[in-house]
Amino acid sequence: MSRKPFIAGNWKMNKNPKEAKAFIEAVASKLPSSELVEAGIAAPALTLSTVLEAAKGSELKVAAQNSYFENEGAFTGENSPKVLAEMGTDYVVIGHSERRDYFHETDEDINKKAKAIFANGLTPIICCGESLETYEAGNAVEFVGAQVSAALAGLSEEQVSSLVIAYEPIWAIGTGKSATQDDAQNMCKAVRDVVAADFGQAVADKVRVQYGGSVKPENVAEYMACPDVDGALVGGASLEAESFLALLDFVK
Ligand code: 13P
Repeated sequence: MSRKPFIAGNWKMNKNPKEAKAFIEAVASKLPSSELVEAGIAAPALTLSTVLEAAKGSELKVAAQNSYFENEGAFTGENSPKVLAEMGTDYVVIGHSERRDYFHETDEDINKKAKAIFANGLTPIICCGESLETYEAGNAVEFVGAQVSAALAGLSEEQVSSLVIAYEPIWAIGTGKSATQDDAQNMCKAVRDVVAADFGQAVADKVRVQYGGSVKPENVAEYMACPDVDGALVGGASLEAESFLALLDFVK
């Protein structure tokens, strides 16, 4: 059972194409070996082609931050998973709490998106995570478990084995108030337990679970030392090349 660590930067709605290109050129040749760690950037749709072009020939994986569940048609403003695949994108982040909260994405939408992403040969990074209210009420495990089960419903064992789940407590996102090492471990383990209950232990042993929420170079090693944390999804600390590279230093 060896799961390769996966550190992904989520730029959210930041950077123009020029800034994106400069960033990728600064990091592409400095990544640690992909034998040790996978590194990726989730770029906004408007910079995706620039990022893909700049990352060509490097080990850097490129993710979109969202996609629709239809490949084409009258869906003004949406991004086609088919076109993302044709462009050479590797991953698609779906179900980020910002998408759920601000754009009213439901568990059902996320499940449909996961299926469409796989149908196009891409891999989803499925986000889940509870609010502060849910956390303080002691209902995080139950709430996140339901999100994970709903997102994965109807997928095959092979698909679930290959995807990535990012546990991101909403109260830790962009707040500087990161989860404790114990919270991150316990919740990532709880996510894995749900996968085991729904798809069997062999699948759960393969699925990669990232922690996200105020991860930075100073605390990333602490999370990566947890047996059930397989990586991190990083917002703010992934915006500067130097900081992004420092997030990968834990492998040294
Ligand atoms: P921060 O690392 O800025 O807290 O963001 C986390 C996140 O939402 C990544 O998807």
